[in-house]
Amino acid sequence: MGPASDHLTRPSEKLYGRICRAIRNVEFRLGDLEALPLENGTVDVAISNGVFNLCPDKPKVLGEVFRVLRVGGRLCMADMILEDHVTPEKVQLMGSWSG
Ligand SMILES: C[S@@+](CC[C@H](N)C(=O)[O-])C[C@H]1O[C@@H](n2cnc3c(N)ncnc32)[C@H](O)[C@@H]1O
Repeated sequence: MGPASDHLTRPSEKLYGRICRAIRNVEFRLGDLEALPLENGTVDVAISNGVFNLCPDKPKVLGEVFRVLRVGGRLCMADMILEDHVTPEKVQLMGSWSG
């Protein structure tokens, strides 16, 4: 995400400091999922929760994820998908959005 949304995506300095002290094998970087600021084949695990569905160019995003994952790396994704059999009426019912 761009600088305009930094306050939404970047943890507070205090929280960031606490996270870095507690978890030493994780590095945080701010970036756009369609152009990840990471070298090819350098990521062990890619985790996405509720982001993929917001990206209009899904093939590009998946391409980026697989570009940065090392051989044998893992992708763990939780997201919403719309299956073909779901009717427009069901889509209107938020209670039926997860299963
Ligand atoms: C529903 S929130 C989920 C946030 C977090 N993963 C969680 O589980 O609480 C969606 C997040 O995706 C981010 N986002 C949307 N499009 C993005 C993109 N192209 N690149 C990076 N982040 C994006 C938004 O800034 C927002 O923080």
